[in-house]
Amino acid sequence: MPDIQTTLERLLSEAVAKAFGNEFADADPILRQATNPKFGDYQANLAMGLAKRLNQKPRDIAEAIKEKLPIGDVLTDAQVAGPGFINLTLNPDLLASQLAAMFKSDRLGVAVADPPMKVVVDYASPNLAKEMHIGHLRSTIIGDAIARILEFQGQHVTRHNHIGDWGTQFGLLLEHLIETGWANSTDTSISDLNVLYKEAKVRDDTDPAFAERARKRVVDLQSGDPQARKIWEQLIVESIRHMNQVFSCLGVKLTDDDLKPESFYNDRLPGVIEAIENAGLIRDCEGAKVVYVEGFFNKEGEPLPMAVKKADGGFGYPATDLAAVQYRVKDLQADRVVYVVDSRQKDHFRQFFKIAADVGWLTSGAELVHVGFGTIMGLDGKPFKTREGDTVRLADVLNEAVDRASKVIADKAPDLNAQEREEIARVVGIGAVKYFDLSNYRIKDYVFDWDRMLALEGNTAPYLQNAYVRIRSIFRKGEVDPSTLTGGGDGGGGADAIKLEHEAERALALQLLQLPRIIQSVADSLEPHRLCTYLYELASSFHKFYEKCPVLAADTDARRDSRLTLCDLVARTLKQGLELLGINTVERM
Ligand code: ARG
Repeated sequence: MPDIQTTLERLLSEAVAKAFGNEFADADPILRQATNPKFGDYQANLAMGLAKRLNQKPRDIAEAIKEKLPIGDVLTDAQVAGPGFINLTLNPDLLASQLAAMFKSDRLGVAVADPPMKVVVDYASPNLAKEMHIGHLRSTIIGDAIARILEFQGQHVTRHNHIGDWGTQFGLLLEHLIETGWANSTDTSISDLNVLYKEAKVRDDTDPAFAERARKRVVDLQSGDPQARKIWEQLIVESIRHMNQVFSCLGVKLTDDDLKPESFYNDRLPGVIEAIENAGLIRDCEGAKVVYVEGFFNKEGEPLPMAVKKADGGFGYPATDLAAVQYRVKDLQADRVVYVVDSRQKDHFRQFFKIAADVGWLTSGAELVHVGFGTIMGLDGKPFKTREGDTVRLADVLNEAVDRASKVIADKAPDLNAQEREEIARVVGIGAVKYFDLSNYRIKDYVFDWDRMLALEGNTAPYLQNAYVRIRSIFRKGEVDPSTLTGGGDGGGGADAIKLEHEAERALALQLLQLPRIIQSVADSLEPHRLCTYLYELASSFHKFYEKCPVLAADTDARRDSRLTLCDLVARTLKQGLELLGINTVERM
């Protein structure tokens, strides 16, 4: 069954065609949910746009469209208002039967993509050899949410964790480890590596001879030097172990099977450079091979080259990304490649996307998308740092989240035992951090604010998790097993049919039925905050409904069942929605 908005859009375009001819049927119906139930359920604002094309008054156009709208199964009323809005009132039987279908569907009425697209999602992708820090949070959780949502749609999703295991940082580290003798140690931990990396960085910045030796080490590594290789492998094993620990704590779905490190592309680099060369795009620049992409300039306003091969023979970040495009689009035949990476890298992506297009790798119609995001700021309005001014370790943030959530839970539900509290605090604390990030429009910077993210009121994970808990407790209290509800049987018209008598019930129904559209819009825009806003509004509509409409104490069994069915739909939608964001729910809190 098509969703409500799709049905309305079809009726409107048919009405336009009848009123003005088929050539106008493509007009965007500009359908919005009505803000006030007095004006019906939806408002169509297409008359204003058509006014120019038809050279008529919007109000007359709206009247003409209205005349052609059928009143019956779908609409019970259509009214023209203001300068030419068309207010639409839906037939409650249609809403009830759509809700019944949603209730019976284990996908809550969300259709499966047909045909599915092949999508590669490149996310997390930290540079190894350092501990993961706050700067790795956004890509990891935004990418994970996007991958989950696309997968839920039925797209064929391949996750790529494009870890930086091959770049200049390894030159520094290798050289420093060899010179200090640390290279002989077999149990260097990630925190050792953190310290060693900092030391190496200082030497790199202050000692040009060291910097030169370090550059050479990268070339050694990339050309297969056994000593460099061996030390490097140990570093990688330890870094991956640490990374997996953070992922597991975050509840992120990446596994070792998703690793597609920069080093994976090493063998492909010469061929890739050749292909770019053959396309006539490469210029020599002081020994390096570079590509000038139109429209990119340095601070002095000179054309800005992208180096695909360095003067010392090494390959860098751009070359690897070009090889990765080729692999993803040509070998894996991806239709869409999504890069979830800090917005500060936007020019890098625009440049190599253009090169890939110019070389002819995108002729299949494959789409490359950079999903950028802003910076996490501290309460002082500067990039988030520790009090001492150091980078914030991700592991520390996650531990603090659980500790803080534990206090919130202890205040809220003092009767829980320590173990229960610990488990719940984990779900609530980690969920709060993730949701706070995801609920912000990703392009913007946001301020990392513990109090706001853990608040039990407002657009937060704890608020939504708590709404879920409340509904579950209604069922416990009433000793009702939701699976005994039927939503009114096939077609929704049976004895325990969903009844939308109260304004708050109707508002809740309309909100529930938007889920398929929301999922689609998140998948198209790759903006998870849209799902957050939806879930928050759903929980808010639920609370209004719950205030106005007694559920267990409803005056008839039929009303009670109908309201319980609505409650269950809200609970399942919240649970599913949060899961798509990578956030769990609990039964009590
Ligand atoms: N490792 C890179 C960094 O930390 C991010 C990689 C993103 N993915 C990509 N294909 N460039 O900045």
